[in-house]
Amino acid sequence: MRPWIAGNWKMNGLSSQLGEIEAIAASVMAAPPHADVLICVPATLITRAAQVAAARIGIGAQNCDSEVSGAFTGDISAEMLKDAGASAVIVGHSERRQHHGETNAMVAAKARAAWRAGLLTIICIGETESQRKDGKALSVCADQIAGSVPDGVALAANALAYEPLWAIGTGHVPTPEQIVQVHAHIRQCLAVRWGAAADHVRILYGGSVKPDNARAILALPEVGGALIGGASLKAAEFEAIVGAV
Ligand code: PGA
Repeated sequence: MRPWIAGNWKMNGLSSQLGEIEAIAASVMAAPPHADVLICVPATLITRAAQVAAARIGIGAQNCDSEVSGAFTGDISAEMLKDAGASAVIVGHSERRQHHGETNAMVAAKARAAWRAGLLTIICIGETESQRKDGKALSVCADQIAGSVPDGVALAANALAYEPLWAIGTGHVPTPEQIVQVHAHIRQCLAVRWGAAADHVRILYGGSVKPDNARAILALPEVGGALIGGASLKAAEFEAIVGAV
């Protein structure tokens, strides 16, 4: 499976930052990486980011509504994201689960909507620090997979991102053993439910991935790419991570 290196700009990025996308697209063109490259920008930038990316890298969104259209003031459907130029969308990021009360069922509905619109999805899961201390990391991830990954969609259109909450934006990265253990468990949960079809699902790691640790993380078994927050905002840092593949 081709690794997937995805950036998540979160609520960062104005028109003046489009040059970073342009630079990443240029470096991918100059030295084609052994990975699919995606940057998930704020919805306001999707169309212009897709223009400057010129199909050299994918442009994604960070959330979508589960409905196609209707009286949902302020919400954006998966069809609208696709229409704006997105090829993928992150769903169930822990910041949305925490700050917007997104449940597993809501995340599954969003993943289904993305599939309906023809978008790839990155479905995020991961335990909190206290859940890990209580020895619940594996069971939390299993529950999130059970609830957030929908049936009835082409499984290969989905990637999972394991993002322990205590590693996001903190500089604290799990040990290689911890990453390997959770990724193996995720693979096993997928296989139990979907059999061989699950072999095509990429499992990304996310949480404080930086140029200096990317190579080691990406070399671990069952790590099929990375979801990168802070280090995706600057082209030079993100390119170094892409180069680590
Ligand atoms: P980080 O964020 O790389 O800044 O830790 C990762 C994420 O939230 O996807």
